[in-house]
Amino acid sequence: MAQVPVGQPTKSLPDNRSIIPLEQPDPSIDLTNIQGDVYPTFPKKVEQFIFFSITDPSVFRKKLGKFRKHITTAADVPLPKDRMVKLTQYQIGFSSSGMTALNIGSPGDSELIDGQKKGAENLGDEPAPESTPTNFVGKHWSQEWREKKIDGVILAASESSATCEEAAAKAIDIFGNSIKVEIIERGKVRPGTEEGHEHFGYLDGVSQPALKGLVKPHAGQLECEPGVIIMGLKGDEAPPFVDGQPGTPRQRPDWAVGGSVMAFRKLHQRVPEFDKFLEENPIQKHGLTHEEGVALRGARMVGRWKSGVPIDLSPEQDDPDFLDPEFINNFRYHLPEPGQARCPFSAHIRKTAPREHHDKPGAPLKLNPVLPHALIMRAGIPYGPEVTPAERQAQKTSEDRGLLFVSYQSLLGSFGFSFIQRTWANNPTFPPPEDNSFDPIIGNAKGVVRTRVASGTDATFTGENLEMKEDFIVAEGGEYFLIPPLKAIDRISNGESLPGL
Ligand code: HEM
Repeated sequence: MAQVPVGQPTKSLPDNRSIIPLEQPDPSIDLTNIQGDVYPTFPKKVEQFIFFSITDPSVFRKKLGKFRKHITTAADVPLPKDRMVKLTQYQIGFSSSGMTALNIGSPGDSELIDGQKKGAENLGDEPAPESTPTNFVGKHWSQEWREKKIDGVILAASESSATCEEAAAKAIDIFGNSIKVEIIERGKVRPGTEEGHEHFGYLDGVSQPALKGLVKPHAGQLECEPGVIIMGLKGDEAPPFVDGQPGTPRQRPDWAVGGSVMAFRKLHQRVPEFDKFLEENPIQKHGLTHEEGVALRGARMVGRWKSGVPIDLSPEQDDPDFLDPEFINNFRYHLPEPGQARCPFSAHIRKTAPREHHDKPGAPLKLNPVLPHALIMRAGIPYGPEVTPAERQAQKTSEDRGLLFVSYQSLLGSFGFSFIQRTWANNPTFPPPEDNSFDPIIGNAKGVVRTRVASGTDATFTGENLEMKEDFIVAEGGEYFLIPPLKAIDRISNGESLPGL
């Protein structure tokens, strides 16, 4: 197979988001009731997240009624063949305090109700010196994210900065004085050949779950029932998940069917520091140049080459022949034999989506039974400028850049975003044969000592424990939001209270 320059982006996938909606989706699923960034996610080049507080709930309800016709539903999001037409897409969601202001009860997600600030300690965010046992403060959380009252978020996504600014202004105008804009986060795809790549340089949005009845899966694409992402649909279930048997359907209030929970995290990326680390820790192997060793180390920490090609398929070099939707997700970490010779257990994509099950050494491999319930729909976008020559030279970050991380799931803690972050990425003993490995990209050692180790990233030196003394990614803020179904939006606009569980 052909070889490409190490670590370079090659060509883009025809649709790197991997979601090809079925021409004839399951008719029992009302796509007009689901907000469109939840499923199938917005195609976008620019996006604004307008975080607001509600100043007058009764006026807000009326304005919401006006805004409703602008919300992009799952039925409105263009199919891949029509992508990049000039379009603007909107979505709206409410935090716990916003739900209280609008008399919306809990749909059955306690972490949504507690809010992300409270949960940040468990996510592993670094504590600020002023943190107390009863009041955790994230050291890197910006002042605005620490202090502002966030009741809701409006997403405005578009294909250019100008149309996105216009769209955001229009939304703010519709709500008028019923809201106060507290924070605006602006995301934009990276320029030129880096489009679709996050700031460390790796193609993002490659592996998305194929929702059964809605999406035509590519070879090897992970599949799940739609209820894993959308409340009240088939698969919105609690464990136990016994082989082949369904779990227990979750209780939901009637209005919540078609809704979802959005996890938003502003994740600052220390790109020059990450690059410096790779430069100082190349894989040293006979026949590899320094540059190739650097690229291989990075690829083994992520689990994919910068192009998006999985190292489980192409472990030695980036190979553009795998940049095909029918190859790029078609792997299970078990060839030619179970182990981490091709992809470390600790690699970011293996930690966050362990496609195999290893509970007993030597046991036949199958899909991790929890995995089809622990898939999230990711819809983030990079923010901030490209690395400047001065930063590159100093090998130190001075500008704020990173990922406006967004994921959707029907429940945060079992088994959505916070489960994946806490129980897999931050857990050095996961998966079971592993005993000392954080996710080297997003894993957090809890507390003030941030040193993390990752084993297996050098296939030729299996005893190596790669030590990372600092985080490459730090959370600057975030919140959880209920993304109500459209029918619930109508009821809120009409002044109704929505009782919780
Ligand atoms: C700045 C932060 C992050 C960066 C730079 C990053 C980067 C990446 C990259 C390059 C991929 C591979 C391409 C793809 O499949 O889309 C990926 C996949 C993935 N990431 Fe992240 N990620 C970040 C944060 C997170 C967080 C916070 C989570 C969840 C807790 C997460 C969960 C996942 C999952 C589930 C996959 C797909 C794995 C698979 O199905 O193979 N990521 N990420």
